[in-house]
Amino acid sequence: MIKEKLDYIPNDLVSLEDYERYAKERMDFNSLAYICSGAADEITYKRNNEAFKNIFLETKTLEDLSGANTKIELFGQSYESPIFLAPVAYQKLVDVNGEIATAQASNAMNTCMCVSSFSSCTLEDISNTTSSPLWFQLYIQPDMNVNIELIKKAEKLGFKALVITIDAPISGIRNAEQRAGFYFPNGISAINIENINSIQTSNNFENILDIVKTLPTWKDIEFIKKNTNLPVILKGITSVDYAKKALSLGIDAIIVSNHGGRTIDTLPASIEILPKIANEIKGKIPILFDGGIKRGTDVIKAISLGASAVMIGRPIMYGLATAGALGVAHTLKILKEELEVSMIFTGCKTLKDINKNILF
Ligand code: FNR
Ligand code: LAC
Repeated sequence: MIKEKLDYIPNDLVSLEDYERYAKERMDFNSLAYICSGAADEITYKRNNEAFKNIFLETKTLEDLSGANTKIELFGQSYESPIFLAPVAYQKLVDVNGEIATAQASNAMNTCMCVSSFSSCTLEDISNTTSSPLWFQLYIQPDMNVNIELIKKAEKLGFKALVITIDAPISGIRNAEQRAGFYFPNGISAINIENINSIQTSNNFENILDIVKTLPTWKDIEFIKKNTNLPVILKGITSVDYAKKALSLGIDAIIVSNHGGRTIDTLPASIEILPKIANEIKGKIPILFDGGIKRGTDVIKAISLGASAVMIGRPIMYGLATAGALGVAHTLKILKEELEVSMIFTGCKTLKDINKNILF
């Protein structure tokens, strides 16, 4: 039986793992199959989390930390914490208010929310809900006019950056969804895009050779970069080659991400990819990171290996499913406090002090 959503925080709800457990008791089989799954055998999905467990820390506990903070500046915008909300599609699957609830939480915690192209609430409603910074995530659609229209709308609504997701031109083969017969319930759709390119969300690959003709390429990235005033961030960089290419095109930031293990299986864990790419980028542009973040220690490890900030994906849905906006805000609060504790134990006063020296 599906349990009711909470309007308070019980004493045993203290970690992101707890949220996952609570959420799973409150989601239907359909949403579960979409959210708590990865591509194929879920090797990458599981490894994202496991890999953090093989990285160890050192303590430095007699440093003077007065004035410590978790602030970060990106593209001229100041953020209270380096823990951002990743783009996650169709948030109404787990909460009637969907992205509006997440935006409320983002506003309360003054963090950055990246809104998916496939959000189930309108960009207007989301931007009316929060005064914290919003980023817009674009899945490039075959008709370039559709993309430009979306980007112009995001610009007009005051979104602060454009995140182009490059790692999911088509949906991964998600057997868990196939087995469950995943479907979009009535009233839940990618409301901001008419005539959506459904190959990015469905597992229907009947006309694969026709499909490839419509997939985006670097030319589209260059075109979009020239046609927006927003900083352009590429999400889904998993190779040094693509990091180099992004740099050469003047891209403003990249997100090292394997899409939470939802695209092609057997990619390495995101945290295993990060150091290689950081080594190439050498601080020339900010690197964001996502994949498997569940603890403040995961956040500090990602920053120590070259990330400026991190994003959480599934934990948003677990927070929403458990307690709506309250659950997402509490999730962010838990992670931020865990990061602060981690900084104290490792002797780091600011995010700039976090480097490889904190690792064992
Ligand atoms: C995603 N992700 C994603 N990414 C993106 O660029 N656009 C999107 O619309 C979505 N939608 C989406 C839905 C669901 C249900 C999940 C779980 C993920 C990927 C997301 O932004 C992020 O890369 C991963 O979720 C990060 O991994 P964790 O935090 O879930 O481990
Ligand atoms: C997903 C797509 C929408 O991961 O990014 O489900």
